[in-house]
Amino acid sequence: MVKASRTPAQLQVVAPARRHALADTGVMDAPLSPMVLSAERVARATLGRDEMRLAHSDATARVAARISTQLDPAMSEALVAAAWLHDIGHAEPLASTGFHPLDGALHLARSGWPDEVVRLVAHHSCAAVLAPYFGADHHLAVLDPVPGPAAEILTFADLVAGKDGKGSTISARIKEKRARHVPDDPIPEDVREARYRLLERTALRVLRSIPSGTSQSVELAQLR
Ligand SMILES: [Fe+2]
Repeated sequence: MVKASRTPAQLQVVAPARRHALADTGVMDAPLSPMVLSAERVARATLGRDEMRLAHSDATARVAARISTQLDPAMSEALVAAAWLHDIGHAEPLASTGFHPLDGALHLARSGWPDEVVRLVAHHSCAAVLAPYFGADHHLAVLDPVPGPAAEILTFADLVAGKDGKGSTISARIKEKRARHVPDDPIPEDVREARYRLLERTALRVLRSIPSGTSQSVELAQLR
């Protein structure tokens, strides 16, 4: 069942940002690292005029940080940096191929960002499913997906951050993506639906991976 209204738990997970509000989550080593702060600066500089997308990226980073305690510190840092940066390919000056995961990743690679950050951005939220319809599959294939849970956590965070950073359940976000469909969409309907199922399964797997009985698991379980 779709949960249309936002729960207190969602509000807590994606509460409006204060400067370094990630520090409130208690998992702060990675989010306050120089690399993550640098990612935040790049996201703000690149998406500054697109307030909604910037708020979405901020919330994505906050959710990713909250779950990144499962990862080793280096991967946690790469994940939170990638969460800040995952949508910078939408910025017009960076749009070279028109496929935003690849455009963002290419920009980051040119700018010398660590390999894991580049690959997480390139493949975020099942990008490989859509790449052939943007003529981007050959380029994307050069960048291997990051194995392990980091990529799945980024997919989860991208979903539940909500398109405006105000938070969403998994099901409401997929419903919203479905409603966004336009008649001249180059992606066939069966491919779009297959990706939604993949996104949902991935996000639910992340939820299941959170140890039960913790405050995190109670909060995040409400994001189904
Ligand atoms: Fe996103």
